[in-house]
Amino acid sequence: MEGNILVTGATGAIGRNLVPLLREKYGMDKVIVGYHSRIPQGSLADGPKVQVNVANKDELYKIVIEQKVSSIYHLAALLSVAAEQDPEAAERVNTQGLRNVLDVIAEQVANGNSMTGFWASSIAVYGEGLPAENVAEDVVLKPFTVYGKGKVIGEQAIAEFYKTKGVDVRVIRFPGLNGPGKPGPGTTEYAIEMIQAAAKGNHYTVPLKQDTIMPMMDIRDAVRAIMQLMASPTGTIEVGKPYNIAAFSFFPEALANVVKKFNPSFTVDYKPDELKQRIADSWPNTIDDSRARNQWGWKSTISLKEMVRNIYEAAKGEQ
Ligand code: SER
Repeated sequence: MEGNILVTGATGAIGRNLVPLLREKYGMDKVIVGYHSRIPQGSLADGPKVQVNVANKDELYKIVIEQKVSSIYHLAALLSVAAEQDPEAAERVNTQGLRNVLDVIAEQVANGNSMTGFWASSIAVYGEGLPAENVAEDVVLKPFTVYGKGKVIGEQAIAEFYKTKGVDVRVIRFPGLNGPGKPGPGTTEYAIEMIQAAAKGNHYTVPLKQDTIMPMMDIRDAVRAIMQLMASPTGTIEVGKPYNIAAFSFFPEALANVVKKFNPSFTVDYKPDELKQRIADSWPNTIDDSRARNQWGWKSTISLKEMVRNIYEAAKGEQ
């Protein structure tokens, strides 16, 4: 790769798992950790880093030019619950932030410089009124959340920039992603909270009904998927169109039963939060990822039990 890679939101859940893979592949100096309020810690802080406000296009453009960036992995975003609580911040970061990334890439491409990108979409694009099982990409999208609407607008902007300006930004619609570290203010994040509570010997009150099923995945599978999609030759995939990827689905009670294998005295109760329950109910139970499987060989490799083990052991180690 000629230029450098900028990862925005690199200190978030996806970023801190993706940066090591990018550095392994392209070299430490080629991958720039872009952060905003959360300062890079541990090994993330070892290589190049830059503070960036994605809502400020001039700032972003300056960084791209000065740091010779030829690829942006744009992960800076508010999660579902945070976006619902602060729609203006979600508009600035999630919607305007992506728009700025697309504008900057389009300008570079128009100047004859090759530049690509990656963006994370979500099962939040789906909304109420759809069949719950095995939902494919190409269905009518009617999300009610600020977060989901932002993801739909983002996907449409990416499709438009590809069609009209040849901008190659690849997109995955992720299920709930689960890995070690403090979970963000989202809806699927209850799963991480539950496993960490068990590791610390605490009781956990689930903010959802016990049978609320959602598609989920180990974060290590998710970042491997990003690497795989970004390495796929242009002619073999549909650029500008989002790909679903799936691993497994579970409901809180089923997760609690797996967690109890690690800590038999772990206890949970259920006190549904109105907003989280409504969001979770509007998302599918299972999604169809056959396009990703057929077109670029996607396949999940990490089981639910291994996902729980990874988060449980990391949280135990922190005590
Ligand atoms: N984990 C995310 C959320 O719940 C889904 O994109 O906000």
